[in-house]
Amino acid sequence: MKINVLITPNSVDELYFTGKTTVVIDVLRASTTIVEALQNGAKEIVPVATVEFAVKLSGGMFGGHTLLGGERNTRKIEGFALGNSPLEYNENIVSGKSIVFYTTNGSKAIVKAKFSENMFICCFNNINAIAKHLVKLNNDVEILCAGKSNLFSMEDTVCAGRLISEILKLSDEIKITDSSRAAIALNRAFGKNLMAMFQESEHGQLLLDNGFEEDLKLAAKVSSSEVIPYYTSSVIKSLTG
Ligand code: MLT
Repeated sequence: MKINVLITPNSVDELYFTGKTTVVIDVLRASTTIVEALQNGAKEIVPVATVEFAVKLSGGMFGGHTLLGGERNTRKIEGFALGNSPLEYNENIVSGKSIVFYTTNGSKAIVKAKFSENMFICCFNNINAIAKHLVKLNNDVEILCAGKSNLFSMEDTVCAGRLISEILKLSDEIKITDSSRAAIALNRAFGKNLMAMFQESEHGQLLLDNGFEEDLKLAAKVSSSEVIPYYTSSVIKSLTG
C-alpha cells in the first residue's frame, strides 16, 4: 500500500483521481462539519462546486428534507439555512436531512476528486476510524488536502501526516512518498497541540477573527467519532450507518 499526499488540489487535474482511493481533508472546517452532520444523523451531504448549482439543486428537491449549507468568506450564504460551523449541524436540525453543501475550498476539492473509485472525508475527529478502514482496504491512497485558495494550508497537511502516522502504527507494509514524509514531519513539529497550531494558522486566525473559536475547539478533538464519510453517486453518506 502506497500513500501519497497532494498538499494542494491544483497540482493535478480531476482525471488524476480516476480509479483511485482518495481521502479529502479540510480540517477548518468542511471535513469537520461533514463528520459532525453525519454523526448527528444527516442522511447525506451533497457537495457542490458553485453556489449557483447548490441553489439549483436544492430547488429540485423536496423542501423540508433538504437544507442548503456552507459558507463564503467563513459566513453563511444569503438564502442558505446553515453556515459552515459544525456546531450548527446538531441532531435537531440535520437528522434525516439531505444537505446540499458549498464551501470555498472543501466541497470543491471533493467535487474535483469525484472520479475516485473510493473517496473518504477525514478530519482529526475521525482520524483513527479512517486509518483503520484504509488498512483494511489495503489500496494505494491519495490524501488530498483542500488547502486555502489552491495554496498550502498547515492544518490539512498536519492532519494528513497524523493520518499516515496512525496507518504506519497499524501496518508495516506501507510505502510513503516524499510529500507523505514531509507531512509526517510537519505533524511531528506542529501536531502536538492542535489548538495552538490552529491559532497560528492563516485560516485558524481568520476563523478566530470571525468569532468561530468554538469550531476550532471541536476540530481539535482527536478520534472523537467513528463516522467514515464515503462519497458515492455524487453524495456523501456514512459508511458506518
Ligand atoms: C472551506 O471549504 O474553505 C472551509 O471549510 C471554509 C470555512 O472555514 O468555512
